[in-house]
Amino acid sequence: MIKFLLNQTEHSVSDIDPNITLLDYLREHLHKKGSKEGCASGDCGACTVVLGESDGQTMRYKSINSCITLLASLHGKQLITVEDLKNDEQLHPVQQAMVDCHGSQCGFCTPGFVMSMFAYRKNTQTPTREGINEALGGNLCRCTGYRPIVEAAVQMFEPDAKDQFTETESVTSKKLNQIKLSDSEVALSALGRTFYSPATVTELSSLLINHPHARLIAGGTDLSLEFTQFLRNIDVLIYTGRAEGLDTVIETESQIDIGSAATYSKAKSLLVQYFPDLEELIERLGSRQIRNQGTIGGNVGNASPIGDMPPVLIALGAQLVLRKGDTTRTINVADYFLKYKVTSQQSSEFIERILIPKPKAQENFRVYKISKRMEDDISATCGAFNIEIENGLVKRVAIAYGGMAEIPKRAKHCEKALLNKDWSEHNIQVAMAELAKDFSPISDFRSSAEYRLLVSQNFLQRLFLELNSSHDTLRVSQYA
Ligand SMILES: Cc1cc2nc3c(=O)[nH]c(=O)nc-3n(C[C@H](O)[C@H](O)[C@H](O)COP(=O)(O)OP(=O)(O)OC[C@H]3O[C@@H](n4cnc5c(N)ncnc54)[C@H](O)[C@@H]3O)c2cc1C
Ligand code: FES
Ligand code: FES
Repeated sequence: MIKFLLNQTEHSVSDIDPNITLLDYLREHLHKKGSKEGCASGDCGACTVVLGESDGQTMRYKSINSCITLLASLHGKQLITVEDLKNDEQLHPVQQAMVDCHGSQCGFCTPGFVMSMFAYRKNTQTPTREGINEALGGNLCRCTGYRPIVEAAVQMFEPDAKDQFTETESVTSKKLNQIKLSDSEVALSALGRTFYSPATVTELSSLLINHPHARLIAGGTDLSLEFTQFLRNIDVLIYTGRAEGLDTVIETESQIDIGSAATYSKAKSLLVQYFPDLEELIERLGSRQIRNQGTIGGNVGNASPIGDMPPVLIALGAQLVLRKGDTTRTINVADYFLKYKVTSQQSSEFIERILIPKPKAQENFRVYKISKRMEDDISATCGAFNIEIENGLVKRVAIAYGGMAEIPKRAKHCEKALLNKDWSEHNIQVAMAELAKDFSPISDFRSSAEYRLLVSQNFLQRLFLELNSSHDTLRVSQYA
């Protein structure tokens, strides 16, 4: 059985297909049809709902795509849908602002926009145009146009506008804690399929030993497409998102230690503090809804050649702590990827943590992503560069690319052309030519092979120009 709060009411679910998405459950079982299905792949935002989570005292709210979220992952959370916003006969300030600003025409996208705006309002004191754009970046509207919607997002912050969720926050938090205390084994089973939601890493680990063919699911932003796009079923799923401590992001003296179930939204601020170039990359990785659900562990575990974090982690010399039962081993991220979608992860093993060394003196990190759309689009190619230059000489260099081969990997020829050489235009040109020895990319709907190679070579030129033109060029890192 799983339990969650449907707005303010405790709601239990058992004996239902554990592969069912939250959107299908809402629409087909609860007959709540406010949340819409536009794409069923996390791209349009029409299905956006908000999850409330308690940290023991206060509530945090996040927008998610219900079309790619499994119902069973909701245990212990508060679900708020567009149907819940109206308070008696009073529209919620977000809804009222959409009416006042004429933010809706056909209305198909409107519930999704309203829920993304609601989450932004709950989490924000002072709205900014940039913040509004980011919060709404995962919602598409094809008829109203975005100007009135953005105007509504500004108006919804009017100070005297009342919000019933703020008033009931401490009660909600208590109710969620109550569900947590009453937890026994949390699982959803039916049709010979089971979704396990272990509360600890030890429990997760032994479930994987007992079910070596189970699929792990974290945010589900990759895995759920198996259900919604390929119409497949998975018999045994083990959820990582409830295992205590698996979503922590910890700073130690020498490294950033990220639990495999930490979402991008959670890990971003610490990562950006040490690697400012990651800000743009993370903001371009999916939408706010995807970043609220998707995890770095899932990005690595998915072993896609076009995932954005693997080249970054490889260039930064990051390591994975892999766990099987009670035993752990630590490997370089670069050694995790063997062949297309084949990894060195053994049966019953999983990624427990991701360890990123903090930057040293003279270290310059840059990452460049090329995709057809600037926002919310998968990379055609992504290059990550970690380079140490001292007195005009390249002392250390790690370069890794995604989208250029069947796995994310280092550009060894290119690195060799730069290592222990002068940091010069000439040597950059040589390294650009050497890149063709490292990779023979393919053509697909994202890019032609020729373009992939050319633009990836140009990343090196960009790196050279950027490092040379920044006033802190060849700087001693502020973290040294
Ligand atoms: C609309 C949309 C836009 C996207 N945009 C981008 C983008 O710009 N860049 C990008 O890189 N990706 C993008 N993605 C893909 C996806 O969001 C990311 O790969 C995300 O990081 C996956 O994390 P998750 O937690 O959702 O993984 P899940 O879907 O839960 O899992 C993915 C895979 O990893 C495995 N896995 C999960 N946790 C572990 C673990 N602890 N140990 C071992 N294996 C594990 C699962 O079994 C599964 O095979 C996008 C997806 C969508 C739907
Ligand atoms: S239906 Fe399009 S994002 Fe969910
Ligand atoms: S109002 Fe029609 S799609 Fe947005």
